[in-house]
Amino acid sequence: MDSFLIEGGVPLKGSITVSGSKNAALPIIMAAIAVDDEVSYTNVPDLRDIKTTIKLLNILGRETTLDSGRATVKNGELGIEAPYDLVKTMRASVLCLGPLLARRREARVSLPGGCAIGARPVDQHLSAFEKMGARFDLDHGYIYGSCPDGLKGAHIRFDFPTVGGTENVLMAACLAEGETVLENAAREPEIVDLANFLNSCGARIEGQGSTVIRVQGVERLHGCEYAIMPDRIEAGTFLVAAGVTGGELLLKNCPLDDMSAVVDKLRSAGMIIEETPEGVLASCGEGGLKCVDVNTRPHPGFPTDMQAQFMVLLCCAEGSGLVQENIFENRFMHVQELVRMGADIHVTGSTALVRGGRRLTGAPVMASDLRAGAALVLAGLAAEGETLVQRIYHVDRGYERLADKLSAVGANIRRVKEED
Ligand code: EPZ
Repeated sequence: MDSFLIEGGVPLKGSITVSGSKNAALPIIMAAIAVDDEVSYTNVPDLRDIKTTIKLLNILGRETTLDSGRATVKNGELGIEAPYDLVKTMRASVLCLGPLLARRREARVSLPGGCAIGARPVDQHLSAFEKMGARFDLDHGYIYGSCPDGLKGAHIRFDFPTVGGTENVLMAACLAEGETVLENAAREPEIVDLANFLNSCGARIEGQGSTVIRVQGVERLHGCEYAIMPDRIEAGTFLVAAGVTGGELLLKNCPLDDMSAVVDKLRSAGMIIEETPEGVLASCGEGGLKCVDVNTRPHPGFPTDMQAQFMVLLCCAEGSGLVQENIFENRFMHVQELVRMGADIHVTGSTALVRGGRRLTGAPVMASDLRAGAALVLAGLAAEGETLVQRIYHVDRGYERLADKLSAVGANIRRVKEED
């Protein structure tokens, strides 16, 4: 397993181009299952999770290739099974359930395990599909779903705005008979991107980005070429990198309109973030960084996927701040590793009290999940001395060429292959 070796203390300076969004590309490429045609995509990030999605599409009979940011999904006879060996590496594989039920009227998908940040069940997905006429059996760790008479439009009300649940049902509803209303739908920008893709294929979706989405079912979806939106979480991670290293970064292709909650918080913590004709310029204000409180919320609130990264900024800021994680039950795995680097953080339930104003010191640390890994890289960049971030396969899931991008703006970071 590879690691990142980082010598901290270098203020980052220069420009970084933000890649295509992992959390938009995953459902949008998976949605090709619902399309009875060839589909192509541009601005596709080269990530482990994208490779896993492509592997799944190939297993399902849709020959798919990715080459320099362009993915092509050929048409073909659809299978119905998403195997355990693949689903266990990426829970988002469960997003094939909706399109398979819609197109094949049956699906056999391995029940996704939990992961480091929580149990992450899919009960909201299944109860929505049951309202649309599907029936499910759980056998030998697989969900077997069938709807022999096809899916029927229904009025779905989610108990809470689940991102994956909204995406899964949205893809299925495009081909269901009649109208489907999704109430208490998630409002993430990646869902808007998915709906825009599906509409480009002939779907009839309205209300995406609001809490009520209406879908009129159609007979079939035709192919198109679609550009994936930029990654707001990768962009937010680089904004924090500018802050914690005391540098200045220009981010190109930065989806600022989708990042208000993060940008507002960073500005209130003392960062200067401004839109220029070349891109978004980020640096520390004269007065340095000061701690603020943060609560993770569904979009348009502060994203849980930026919680770990923001905590590193608080460690480097004056004063103290409270971090409240409201989405996942176990998303503080990075805390113990940051404490080993000298951070002063105390966790009580879903709240972490961060006392800043101390210089982090480099140490060997271990990534436990994607965003925890990204946070440890940021901590290494800020720390005095050397940090070895281990198990960076977690980071490779969601950050394209991270070490290259950071080295290009002055970071002293390199990938270290595991000793043979
Ligand atoms: C998506 O996960 C993202 N993944 C996550 O990003 C992100 O953290 C999350 O949304 C919240 O914004 C992708 O888009 C591929 P949810 P998802 O359904 O769809 C519970 C990253 O770092 N829940 O909104 O799984 C669940 O356990 C990743 O890029 C149920 O209880 O998120 C969790 O506590 C991590 N029952 C909460 O809701 C369900 O049926 C949020 O889940 C579904 C979810």
